[in-house]
Amino acid sequence: MSDFVLKVNGARLHVSAPAEESLLSVLRDRLDLTGTKYGCGEGQCAACTVLLDGKPARSCLTPVSVAAKTHITTIEGLEQNGKLSPVQQAFLNEGAFQCGYCTSGMVLCATALLREIPHPTEQQIVTYMDGNICRCGTYPRIVAAVQRASQSPAKVGAQ
Ligand code: FES
Ligand code: FES
Repeated sequence: MSDFVLKVNGARLHVSAPAEESLLSVLRDRLDLTGTKYGCGEGQCAACTVLLDGKPARSCLTPVSVAAKTHITTIEGLEQNGKLSPVQQAFLNEGAFQCGYCTSGMVLCATALLREIPHPTEQQIVTYMDGNICRCGTYPRIVAAVQRASQSPAKVGAQ
């Protein structure tokens, strides 16, 4: 076991874990941040997406020792002062989920996209989020939600 101080959603969290343990396991099983979902566990679905220094990353493939060198944002960190982020709100308004299992990964990926490209075309949205799998097939609503968020006057936030 090694000791780490993880910078998660603006807080510094102390955790002991094997250096090679996945960030996904550490978040869910040691820090009780269960908004990040375990889908395939092998990099194929992006349900486990978090932001590392603002960039989408698959937490199932990221050792905690690597994540410890970055600023980590999980779905729990998007809400500010009890208010959903523009992307979260847009997903809600568009009903962009059925089971919701892919949603936190989708929302984080879309957040990173809109910080990079504030007003993406439909094709840019599809290309950027290509690796995020929705088994329920709600892709049209997800694209609509990202478009809606891109028109929001509120700033798309993420640490
Ligand atoms: S759980 Fe990480 S990519 Fe599927
Ligand atoms: S809403 Fe069920 S996997 Fe996307």
